[in-house]
Amino acid sequence: MGMTDERLHKFPSADELSRAAAQAIAGDLRRGMEQGDATIALSGGDTPRATYRHLADADLPWERIQVYWAGERYVPHDAEDSNYRMERETLLDPVPIPDYNIHPMPTDAPDPEDAAGAYEELLWDQFGAGLGFDVIVLGIGRDGHTASLFAGSPALEEKERWVVPAMALAEPRRRLTLTLPIISRARAVHFLVTGAGKHEALTRALEGGDCPAALVRPSGGTLAWWVDEAALRGSGGD
Ligand code: 6PG
Repeated sequence: MGMTDERLHKFPSADELSRAAAQAIAGDLRRGMEQGDATIALSGGDTPRATYRHLADADLPWERIQVYWAGERYVPHDAEDSNYRMERETLLDPVPIPDYNIHPMPTDAPDPEDAAGAYEELLWDQFGAGLGFDVIVLGIGRDGHTASLFAGSPALEEKERWVVPAMALAEPRRRLTLTLPIISRARAVHFLVTGAGKHEALTRALEGGDCPAALVRPSGGTLAWWVDEAALRGSGGD
């Protein structure tokens, strides 16, 4: 196991954070292209929207970027709360990326196990037994979950599989998620954390406490925390 290079980037506002995070992610993608197509896995939720919008403005050769998902709500892709839909609107529709570079988690199989298996096969085709994603974008929930890895759930304990179905505490409850074995292979993981409501979870994660986000330690990669004042201090905005 290699060492994790961990960095904390603090910003007065979520806006400044999202600009800087987008720039760093673009840099990691350019680095990824030195060895073929760059790969990125996206998370949903509200926090990354602004960063995705800025990333869409970055001057990147999108035909050389393969886009995957870190987690998905098990709802149709056109549903209001679909991560795919949000990422399409904020990042993918505005950029010239070919459809065949976009690899959403399927959510149409009656059994999410089948969808997870199919997505894992896709990831095996991309990564084989070698390195993992150039970039993974993650968020953190108030309860400390990341992707759809919730405390106490079997998905968090998974040691072999790369993609599994998961149950969230909040609606929509059915999810698909990448697991720690594949997340740990990433060259760069970027956690985006804004708002006072995330203060407790952020503190636990940074102190290596008992929460799923604290278990993300890319071996041999960088782990970057992008946090605003409100999340750091627990006051001054949500
Ligand atoms: C999801 C995400 C999830 C998210 C956190 C934080 O599908 O919802 O993968 O892990 O990052 O729940 O969400 P917010 O950014 O909305 O607070």
